[in-house]
Amino acid sequence: MTILAIETSCDETAVALVEFKADGTPKKVLANLVSSQIKLHAPFGGVVPNLAARAHRETLPLLLRRIRLHKFWPKIDFIAVTHGPGLSPCLWQGINTAKALAESQNKKLLAVNHLEGHIYSTWPFSGSRSQKNFPCLALIVSGGHTELALIKEHLKYKILGSTRDDAAGEAFDKVAKLLGLSYPGGPEIEKFAKKGAACFALPRPMLNSPNYDFSFSGLKTAVRYLLEKMGKVNHQDRADICASFQAAVIDILKHKLDKAEKEFQPRTLVMAGGVSANLALRQALSRVKAPDKGLALDNALMIAMAGFWRAKQGKFVKPESLEAKPNLTLGSHRCA
Ligand code: KG4
Ligand code: ZN
Repeated sequence: MTILAIETSCDETAVALVEFKADGTPKKVLANLVSSQIKLHAPFGGVVPNLAARAHRETLPLLLRRIRLHKFWPKIDFIAVTHGPGLSPCLWQGINTAKALAESQNKKLLAVNHLEGHIYSTWPFSGSRSQKNFPCLALIVSGGHTELALIKEHLKYKILGSTRDDAAGEAFDKVAKLLGLSYPGGPEIEKFAKKGAACFALPRPMLNSPNYDFSFSGLKTAVRYLLEKMGKVNHQDRADICASFQAAVIDILKHKLDKAEKEFQPRTLVMAGGVSANLALRQALSRVKAPDKGLALDNALMIAMAGFWRAKQGKFVKPESLEAKPNLTLGSHRCA
């Protein structure tokens, strides 16, 4: 099976062309292109939806042209596209392009949940023995989401907990902004944290709550108060605050994951999403499978990976019913 995948949910325009083995393992990654808009949004300290949509509109045709699609059309079986969650004007760019291509080339469409894509980026379920990996406990930590999900079979998710306010990546971005660091904040905080010590006592909200929900906005506020109290901060202070903040986030994620592992005894543990690129987090959760380097951040290969299983289950969508779902959750694909 060969899938063309398109991802435009936020600030990365991405296209992938993947040939799969029958068991869902990529046989050949014919293309995996990502064009990041970081430079475009950095001056604003966050993603500006209309600017992002315009950049997708300009960049997507360029990426598709680079793949030399005309050569591959006879081989391509399906077109997968992210339909949510994400920024509505951005999602529509990918969706409209996917629909136009599907129509002109007479291909079937697959609508992929972006979070599902992140989960499949860890490739835990491909291969002939993939069934042995269920149940799987998945931690998604991205710029927009923090979710803990239990997966018992392909494409069915039981949400154990979510963030009640900011997502983990969002907290990294907001704390970086408070510290005067550039956007996106995650990699910046990680860089500074390496030079600092976790010497400031910061709270771990909801650490011992009797559920699997998360809360990060109190942690961010605690950093704001700390900065107000300290007044002027130097380079070392910044590094120490970054290390303290990062340690708090890691503590919270690890604690909830450990607790869920004890209760649900999964066969596999995975984490995915932009924050899973963080080396300190990977080290703290070394037994948890994380995406290969380059697949933690948004990309279209992960959309193709999830798309494979949608195709396998015959879950195609008609062009007229394919639309952007900015608030789509994993819970839309619930299991009992
Ligand atoms: O998954 P992603 O690329 O986009 C969304 O789906 O949101 O995640 C982006 C988020 C941003 O908040 C960014 O600051 C964070 O991932 N991030 C990191 C690191 N790299 C990216 N957070 C912590 N450490 C990193 N190294
Ligand atoms: Zn993402």
